Amino acid sequence: MVKIVRLEPISQQTEVETNGSLLSILISKDLDVLKECGGRGLCATCHVYVKEGMNSLSPVNRREQRTLEVITTCKPNSRLACQSRVMANGVVVELPPGMYINSLQDIEALIGRRAEQNLLHPVTGQILVEVGKLITRSMLKQLENTSFKVGEYFSHTKDV
Ligand code: FES
Repeated sequence: MVKIVRLEPISQQTEVETNGSLLSILISKDLDVLKECGGRGLCATCHVYVKEGMNSLSPVNRREQRTLEVITTCKPNSRLACQSRVMANGVVVELPPGMYINSLQDIEALIGRRAEQNLLHPVTGQILVEVGKLITRSMLKQLENTSFKVGEYFSHTKDV
């Protein structure tokens, strides 16, 4: 049996096998999902907003809950796509605006340009550079102590 899921704001409807993950849908649609933690429920890069049909998804597990608590753009309808399995029809999903980056080099490559969209931290979803802002070397300096690795970020957190 397949279930229908709608993706916003691109208004695409797609099918997934019952119990299939939302992440598999995003990937099949070539959406820019970094999957920084490899689908283990530890990062922000598969964070989505469920606009409709939250009850048609598998419930939030403990690990997902802990990660959602860290994500700065988390809302009551937030889910991690890799942890969410589609159990019934009626799910409508929207990706948070912005582009996740996973290293300072990614930002460095954009120095001298204006950010075309918000540049987001891969674990917390925090906006590192706002859309329209000129990306400068001093901006990079300010971010120098930022850890972009999931493992490093959680290394001080027990029981992950
Ligand atoms: S890919 Fe990292 S939490 Fe889903």
